[in-house]
Amino acid sequence: MKEIPYFRYNYLYSEFKNELDRTFSETLGKGAILGQQELKDFERTVADFLGVKYAIGVGNGTSSLLLMTRVLGVQKGDEVIIPSHTFVATAAAVAWWGATPVLVDCGNDHLLDVDKVEAAITPKTKAIIIAQLNGRTGEMDRLQAIADKHHLVVLEDAAQAFGSKFLNRCAGTWGIMGSFSFHPAKTLGAFGDGGMIVTHDEQLAHKLFCLRDHGRDPQTNEVVAWGINSRLDNVQAAMLSVKFSHYSKTIQRRRTIMQRYCDRLAGVSEITMPPAPNTNDGRHYDIAQNCEIEAEKRDELRNFLKENGIGTLLPWGGRALHQIPALQSSMHFDRHALARTELLFKRCLMLPLNTSVTDDEVDYVCDTILKFYR
Ligand SMILES: Cc1ncc(COP(=O)(O)O)c(C=O)c1O
Repeated sequence: MKEIPYFRYNYLYSEFKNELDRTFSETLGKGAILGQQELKDFERTVADFLGVKYAIGVGNGTSSLLLMTRVLGVQKGDEVIIPSHTFVATAAAVAWWGATPVLVDCGNDHLLDVDKVEAAITPKTKAIIIAQLNGRTGEMDRLQAIADKHHLVVLEDAAQAFGSKFLNRCAGTWGIMGSFSFHPAKTLGAFGDGGMIVTHDEQLAHKLFCLRDHGRDPQTNEVVAWGINSRLDNVQAAMLSVKFSHYSKTIQRRRTIMQRYCDRLAGVSEITMPPAPNTNDGRHYDIAQNCEIEAEKRDELRNFLKENGIGTLLPWGGRALHQIPALQSSMHFDRHALARTELLFKRCLMLPLNTSVTDDEVDYVCDTILKFYR
């Protein structure tokens, strides 16, 4: 029997150990601890890679969402449309300011169902946040058209989609602002927390640079607004630059693994796979952050995989946003209108997908799944 954990955190380090060690000691050796050149360089690298003007490094993907909604002026009485299938942080970025997250169903791609957005818009709607989950970017042209029609802005929670594209344009760069996470399990993962906000808008960028650093203007160091301390750590930025230098290979390998899962499990009628990279529709470029499948007899399958040494994960611990009892009263939703999300959360399961996973391991996972349904 093989042992395949869902994620191997130690591999994050061992994969590029020598380069990471060198960069770590060089950065610390010169005392470049906070807000130094390494951070500026990484912010420039990210902006250029994504094709956006400004990138603002922050402490994590949650505070990047919070700062985005803050600069937008989201406040009590406002409604913000978000998908019901997303991490709790997307909703927190709305509820934190006293506004109401309005939950919309997901589609077959597991992302916000664009066709259901318009019905959720009211005179109180301030913005729409789409979560670009699993390394896939939503149908942003259609979403933006709806937002434009109603004079609304789109924000992107692109925590899971660094480098993912729709119509050749990167996730995070379609909306007025986009948010990324460098949580260790993300495709570009730090050795701790990290996040980034991107925008084309100079004024928003300036406000965000101030807000993340106690409201201090980076040019004058004067406090110009209330702010918080949420800076991307300089040492993390240096380590992220090392990992970024291998990023195209990382994504290539992830896409290869996803393709292998899709090829091997294509004939299993009890399973619905995510879109395979090579049979995509030519409009999406997915970076294979997660392999989120839908499976009949999901819980039994998960147990069978566990008995055979294979670790899996339920998205968000197995609950969509509207299924979290403690938060239900502060969100607006109609359970009947979230039928696709309800079905998804009876069936969804994430298989191991990261650069430590070998072809043999993918085959073992697939063989075990085939054995279960046979
Ligand atoms: C969709 C989504 N939004 C927000 C976050 C929050 O990011 P972080 O953990 O860096 O705060 C995550 C990841 O953790 C995420 O997957």
